[in-house]
Amino acid sequence: GTPERGTSDYQTLKQQEGLISSRQLPTALIIGVKKGGTRALLEFLRLHPAIRAAGSEVHFFDHHYFKGFRWYRRRMPPTLSGQITMEKTPSYFITSEVPKRVKHMNPGMKLIVVARDPVTRAISDYTQVKSKRRKMPRFEDLAFLNGSRIVDTSWMPLRIGVYVRHLERWLQHFPLSQFLFVSGERLISDPVMEITRVQDFLGLRRVICEKNFYFNATKGFPCLLKSEDRATPHCLGKNKGRSHPYIDPTAIQRLRDFYRPFNQRFYQLAGMDFGWY
Ligand code: A3P
Repeated sequence: GTPERGTSDYQTLKQQEGLISSRQLPTALIIGVKKGGTRALLEFLRLHPAIRAAGSEVHFFDHHYFKGFRWYRRRMPPTLSGQITMEKTPSYFITSEVPKRVKHMNPGMKLIVVARDPVTRAISDYTQVKSKRRKMPRFEDLAFLNGSRIVDTSWMPLRIGVYVRHLERWLQHFPLSQFLFVSGERLISDPVMEITRVQDFLGLRRVICEKNFYFNATKGFPCLLKSEDRATPHCLGKNKGRSHPYIDPTAIQRLRDFYRPFNQRFYQLAGMDFGWY
């Protein structure tokens, strides 16, 4: 801008050019699933110049809903016009009040679900809880009702994995076309493929590509060559990609048998075969 121009003129111009930043409510959410790879997906998406995302989980639609939309908007990073605001809170997927609240705020909300084999996801969830406790019962003892073969479906790490139940609830409020399902497994084996699907879904140019990733053999996961915050190669933190404890294969098989019919119905509803067997 030129110094001669009046301040208000100058501001109008800047605003028209979209150079003045403002905070906006999100138009896309990563709603789940916990331990599915939600942090990895968000960190990858942040490489895109048209995406701005809240750094930590905001928990607006579950814990802080009564603080109102203004509170929510203040949690969002400033954006320029044309940029998309996002956040990720994995508990949204499983919290029953959330879908109608999201719809009330924005019936056009884009909803992203990173889904991962529910058995691996449960072990990942258990591993996270165990890492914060001094003593923790064995996974096998928590997963089945006192020493029986009956799956304890009230145990949260197992309940979360019945994805079809949660999706059915969401589909009472949103059409399938507003969802994108990301494979948690493929996000690790082929991050570019999944990130391309997400960019397309969000209507963005395919900016994030092979050049952004490298496979870190020590970590055993794809990592970033550079990002918004850091110009040097880096991986996600130590709490992402933990090694899991040994679990009795019989227990794993029983859980696979338990989830199989739910997984099949989930594939049908989501219109995508995740290939968990
Ligand atoms: P594990 O720690 O059990 O391996 P969330 O961020 O939703 O909590 O998901 C955590 C999971 O993301 C990790 O679970 C890990 O498997 C997965 N993940 C996917 N891509 C990753 C990456 N590039 N780096 C580290 N973890 C990744």
